[in-house]
Amino acid sequence: SNDPLVIFTPSGKRGNFPVGTPILTAARQLGVDLDSVCGGRGICSKCQITPSFGEFPKHGVTVYEDALSEWNSVEQRYDDIRGLTKGRRLGCQATVQGDVVIDVPPESQVHRQVVRKRAEAREIVMNPSTRLYYVEVEEPDMHDPSGDLERLIKALRADWDLPQLEADLGVLTGLQPALRKGEWKVTCAVHLGDDTFSPRIMQVWPGFYDGSIYGLAVDLGSTTIAAHLCDLTTGEVVASSGIMNPQIRFGEDLMSRVSYGMMNPSGADEMTKAVREGMNALFVQIASEAEIDRNLIVDAVFVCNPVMHHLFLGIDPFELGQAPFALATSEALALRTLELDLNLHPAARVYILPCIAGHVGADAAAVALSEAPDKSDDLVLVVDVGTNAEILLGNKEKVLACSSPTGPAFEGAQISSGQRAAPGAIERIEIDPVTKEPRFRVIGCDLWSDEEGFEAQTAATGITGICGSGIIEAVAEMRLAGIVDGPGLIGSAEQTGTDRCFPEGRTNSYLVHDGTADGGPKITVTNVDIRQIQMAKAALYSGARLLMDKFGVDAVDRVVLAGAFGAHISPKHAMVLGMIPDAPFEKVTSAGNAAGTGARIALLNTEARKDIETTVQNIEKIETAIEPRFQEHFVNASAIPNSAEPFPILNS
Ligand code: FES
Repeated sequence: SNDPLVIFTPSGKRGNFPVGTPILTAARQLGVDLDSVCGGRGICSKCQITPSFGEFPKHGVTVYEDALSEWNSVEQRYDDIRGLTKGRRLGCQATVQGDVVIDVPPESQVHRQVVRKRAEAREIVMNPSTRLYYVEVEEPDMHDPSGDLERLIKALRADWDLPQLEADLGVLTGLQPALRKGEWKVTCAVHLGDDTFSPRIMQVWPGFYDGSIYGLAVDLGSTTIAAHLCDLTTGEVVASSGIMNPQIRFGEDLMSRVSYGMMNPSGADEMTKAVREGMNALFVQIASEAEIDRNLIVDAVFVCNPVMHHLFLGIDPFELGQAPFALATSEALALRTLELDLNLHPAARVYILPCIAGHVGADAAAVALSEAPDKSDDLVLVVDVGTNAEILLGNKEKVLACSSPTGPAFEGAQISSGQRAAPGAIERIEIDPVTKEPRFRVIGCDLWSDEEGFEAQTAATGITGICGSGIIEAVAEMRLAGIVDGPGLIGSAEQTGTDRCFPEGRTNSYLVHDGTADGGPKITVTNVDIRQIQMAKAALYSGARLLMDKFGVDAVDRVVLAGAFGAHISPKHAMVLGMIPDAPFEKVTSAGNAAGTGARIALLNTEARKDIETTVQNIEKIETAIEPRFQEHFVNASAIPNSAEPFPILNS
């Protein structure tokens, strides 16, 4: 063909187009991902592209300066008002004049990739449930009796190749004023439909709507509820916020909430009401933080453990409190906000990830979505530690899952000087193996306790206790310094050579910090504390070990520590304790709040929802309670680090 050649990068798609063809048109014909909300009318500026000039031997073309049409008045106007980044053009205005190479920058791609730092985790590609479309609608006519909605749908379908659309009454009531105010030009938010809901118009704005639409990714935990507010057009997190789960007043942990429901006839209902009210308060908070109207939130994804899942849905969790731990349903759920009394956009959709099993919830499914063990070549062990540890082990071939009752010790609960992670809590400890003297760091202070200025910096918060990561480091450091032995007994002052060890009852304790001088509490690690940690870590380790047995392996390639806890714990100390199987230190990474990230992935990419639904169906569930080897592993794993397992890397 004699027509100019247009080559798009990064896709590499190419084709010949007659002189005068807009770049946006060429992109559409070639199936190149180039965004547009206004349909090429020069209004939305989503179609920005960067032409390249010069010689491209690889592509066999030379691109001259006049390969595209000159700036037109639309681009000039846009540049005057908003400023067009140097070298950028509007793809709907610039037309082909000669052979050209066109780069589509990430922000002009509909299916753009959202930045994620961890290479081994699943990438996030935008494919949201709801998108914005600008259309020009035919005016009503005495000769054409069709309604305004029908003409709007006709225009949307013609311009955007959309399926048949529906609209709720809420849209209809505002439709006529919007069309007339916008002089028959409107912007629509369209939910593209899913297995449960047919495609529908969610909202209509007069003229070109310059704002965004939003979605929520919510991690509903038994202690805290955390939400990320995401821009559904860019994938960006615009605000994050959290509140304590108001159900705490019915019981600190899951089992006490299940029993509250059993003891009180309306108990489960009260807890459902409390969590939904809390959620609505959180939504108000996050919307005001982002300075947006809550009605712009059109989609929400929730992840949670099975008990939270049932209570949120208004299902009595009674059956989850007893064997065989039957869920009401383990399937993913697509609901309307109204069914859950949530105050978002009235037609907003709610998606809840599937549960893996009666003990392994939608939160674990979200971790699986985020960390993608099912797509890994390496054999990866993913551990999400809370009061229950949810454990996944797998690779491309198969994935196994179990949960293990670690109890609250890792969160600093049921530890004599324990506390939640908050300013004033000791979060890191080192113990000198010779002098047995500790130095530590406290949340809210960036100095070690033996550094100049530490007292001054901690004066405001005081030194109030030890949080979960602190107690793990304390026990591991005590083991390394010979203060505590393999079976878990703290030595006496004579045995250890330090007065910091002192008798308390029939065992010994170790003094970390004598707060008397600064008016704070005495912070010690007792032998009972050591026992609690031994139990918790044994539960975690035996769960992981059981999955390794089932997989038929003695080692894993890498370990991912998920959750708030995983973000703070040091891999070395976890391994010294024997919490996790031996692995090279650099192969032990923290995933942060992987459940929250999984929720965000499902929010931003509806295909990922289908993907995790299939993955979850294929995950093999292992019930630790009925596995005889679990007990055996548990007994062995009570020692520090472990009486039966070798830890070659740790020892090298
Ligand atoms: Fe909207 Fe180009 S497509 S400005």
